[in-house]
Amino acid sequence: MNGTVVIGAQFGDEGKGKIVDVLAEESDLVVRFNGGANAGHTVQVGSEQFAFRLLPSGIMIGNGVVVDPAQLLEEIDGLRKRGYAVENLRLSDRAHVVMPWHKVIDELEEKVKEGMAAATTKRGIGPAFEDKVGRWGIRVADLLDPVVLRKKLESLLPVKHRIILALGGSDVFVLERIFNQYGEFGGRLKAFVADTSVVIDQAGKNGKSVLFEGAQGTHLCVDHGIYPYGTSSNCVAGAAAVGAGVGPRAIDRVIGVVKGFTSRVGAGPFPTELDGKEAEYLRERGGGEYGTVTRRPRRVGWLDLVMLRMSARVNGFTDLAVTKVDVLGGVETVHAAFAYEHYDNELHEFPANMRVLAECNPVYEEFDGWEDLPPEEWRRIAANGFDALPAKAQKYLRWIEKELAAKLAFVSVGRAREETIDLRKARPPSPPKKAAKASRRR
Ligand code: GDP
Ligand code: IMO
Ligand code: MG
Repeated sequence: MNGTVVIGAQFGDEGKGKIVDVLAEESDLVVRFNGGANAGHTVQVGSEQFAFRLLPSGIMIGNGVVVDPAQLLEEIDGLRKRGYAVENLRLSDRAHVVMPWHKVIDELEEKVKEGMAAATTKRGIGPAFEDKVGRWGIRVADLLDPVVLRKKLESLLPVKHRIILALGGSDVFVLERIFNQYGEFGGRLKAFVADTSVVIDQAGKNGKSVLFEGAQGTHLCVDHGIYPYGTSSNCVAGAAAVGAGVGPRAIDRVIGVVKGFTSRVGAGPFPTELDGKEAEYLRERGGGEYGTVTRRPRRVGWLDLVMLRMSARVNGFTDLAVTKVDVLGGVETVHAAFAYEHYDNELHEFPANMRVLAECNPVYEEFDGWEDLPPEEWRRIAANGFDALPAKAQKYLRWIEKELAAKLAFVSVGRAREETIDLRKARPPSPPKKAAKASRRR
């Protein structure tokens, strides 16, 4: 299988949606494999903007995603209204369903967690994954089977009510109403439901190329991220195999999407965080750094190579896409942390202890900034390739590439597809493989 996975290298919102859109042109299938409706991937095509987009020949929602059926149906209807066909969508029968109590519990947990709260998107993501791992979950297949759905609701609803009460809530869910509503969702989604692992496998056998679209970012990953301030699913490349139902050998290219600086929606330590004028400058440019899902202002800061080296390692990046190079234009001195200072120690590896991380001060490499150019100038540069970029931007990008030991494949200088430099086109072709010597039969 010709499999490529696109992964956020930071705290999410790196511009994965845009890079996926660019790559979708050369892919037959696009598969989501983690997260849920906490993700917001923006794609700009011409003058049209999409919160996410159904791509050329097909899009899959794999077993690793937690699905809010009402949200999914709303997005399907929204795209249909705009004249887009959605018939190629396939939804895994093994994906877990976000139920209304997950959202209620998400809100209530955030209130009682105090210093441990991540400032979630309140989409019920954490509680839905808790139920999945705790084996309380309702899966898409269950929505299509009234006997199973009813039995599960009978077992779990009284327990959910006790949990809601214990967390200080008072919401009550009527079994019959939930049964009817979610059974109806099942009916409406039925045409899309499939064993997506089989569909992807078949596509691979037929020589199709598959693009695995990661949600969130490496440092929000429940294992490798800033626990407990990240999300509840795995956001690294390895999760594509589990969350789509393919073997790890199906993935032969791992593209890390790196925003030219760092942003974060939510709580937790952020060593290179900026405030004041510089933060304002980065936040307000390029359409503004506001959460796609929650519209919360994003916290912003300089690039952090301590974070990124870890991302390159845990994902095994083969390629990089660096975004928002245009947004950095006009910054006099661009900073990038290459280490942290922690009292008398210089740390080069990202610490696991959040108290230590909060005490770290970044040690910066400084780069001369490049000019603030109008959008049409960035478009002209994109059309002319990497060498047309301001020399100072080239230096910054080549430094990132060297530090992360992965090939720079894309440089993004704007929201639109055509505001992208594809460096793969300029790469020398790989030398022809030598024919293997004939083996001798013993
Ligand atoms: P995702 O969650 O990683 O897909 O990223 P989001 O869509 O949440 O946030 C990225 C935002 O930056 C979106 O509004 C994109 O349209 C925009 N964007 C992506 N790449 C670039 C770029 O190179 N320059 C500018 N100015 N905006 C970009
Ligand atoms: P995309 O795919 C940025 C953050 C939330 C919160 C924490 C946990 O667009 O990059 P959750 O609702 O998942 O339990 O919240 O994770 N978060 C994201 N931040 N981009 C995302 O997705 C995010 N998904 C979750 O802000 O701090
Ligand atoms: Mg986003």
